Amino acid sequence: MSERPPLPPLSRIGIIGGGQLGRMSAMAAARLGYVCHIFTPEEDAPASQVAARTFRADYDHLTALEAFADSCDVITFEFENVSAEGLARLAHHRPVRPSPFVLEISQDRLAEKSFVTERARARTAPFARVTDREELALALEEIGLPAVLKTTRLGYDGKGQARVTSRAEAEAAFATLEPKPLILEGFVDFAAELSVVLARGADGTIAAFDPVLNHHHQHILDLTLAPAPIPPEIAEEAQRIAARIAEALDLVGLLCVEMFLDRDGRILVNEIAPRPHNSGHWTIDACPVSQFELHIRAVAGLPLPAPRRHSDAVMKNLVGPEEIGLWPEILATPGLIPHHYGKREARPGRKMGHVTRLFPRGALPGPEGIAAAIAPLAMRYRPGE
Ligand SMILES: Nc1ncnc2c1ncn2[C@@H]1O[C@H](COP(=O)(O)OP(=O)(O)O)[C@@H](O)[C@H]1O
Ligand SMILES: [Mg+2]
Repeated sequence: MSERPPLPPLSRIGIIGGGQLGRMSAMAAARLGYVCHIFTPEEDAPASQVAARTFRADYDHLTALEAFADSCDVITFEFENVSAEGLARLAHHRPVRPSPFVLEISQDRLAEKSFVTERARARTAPFARVTDREELALALEEIGLPAVLKTTRLGYDGKGQARVTSRAEAEAAFATLEPKPLILEGFVDFAAELSVVLARGADGTIAAFDPVLNHHHQHILDLTLAPAPIPPEIAEEAQRIAARIAEALDLVGLLCVEMFLDRDGRILVNEIAPRPHNSGHWTIDACPVSQFELHIRAVAGLPLPAPRRHSDAVMKNLVGPEEIGLWPEILATPGLIPHHYGKREARPGRKMGHVTRLFPRGALPGPEGIAAAIAPLAMRYRPGE
């Protein structure tokens, strides 16, 4: 998209999706003087609670999407499962950032991995498309076991995927995973999971945060350590890979690249998300300009300051009724910075909020120190796990 003048304060930014990512983007937008309109099917959505207007309809309701577009000056999204086609229609009404093309690539694990390997010259785990049982047999031969069988679309938080260690397991998983086609990926025995969040402007400026280390519990992000305790040359390589992907996509907006660091010190790209990411929440408290502000700045055409981290940080997600049930204790603990997403119902596995704990730069503690720092929350992260 060509360069446009920056949006002046009081311009209206449309965000498709009403979850916590939209909520925190809207909060950052408000600080810059913008007014946010949210599009979501959900009643009382986390983002609606902090936005000026909500258009409530299903994501495939074209007339509602068009009315929403006409009410805004620019459109972005915090939710990836809106139809890329619908978004392309909106692009006739208003600028859509990132572009529908970027969304389309990130929505499909096959398109995403092909793009990353062919266009951004980055490595991924070996992968193959699986549409029927013959292709499954061929893919298993090519990739070997253990492997991970995934749906190509609509997966999140580990849903729509299965780790398989035998042909029989692969066939059973093939029978249950929907919708087809599927993708078979080689299982990566990773040393760590890393991610890089960056913003790219219409003029090609890139602003990238330091890589962070992510620890998952039951396939849901549990803990992020910022910065990732990795050698500087690996950190630089991770940022270079993320920048190559952003450039190849001609991204205008925010991008998170999830990566595996394998036991040989090589980086393999796992997936990309062209929106704010859970592993970037620490930036609200540890950086002068957060991922949410960079998101809004990129979308609004404002300058993108190089990210600076004034502190090191640990971010712990509050997942499900048990962890959000500790809210009173969290509030009473000095040093824990609380973030509540305003969700009424705490279902198991639902992200309800997060806490951040800051440390002086270079003073990120080891596991024992982290456990102490996030008490009263239970520590699940164990090094070498
Ligand atoms: N090929 C793989 N090898 C090893 N672990 C994997 C692989 N693919 C996924 N995982 C694990 O499952 C988690 C979720 O998978 P991911 O592809 O990121 O899907 P999503 O985040 O959309 O649910 C990853 O963060 C990682 O821990
Ligand atoms: Mg993921």
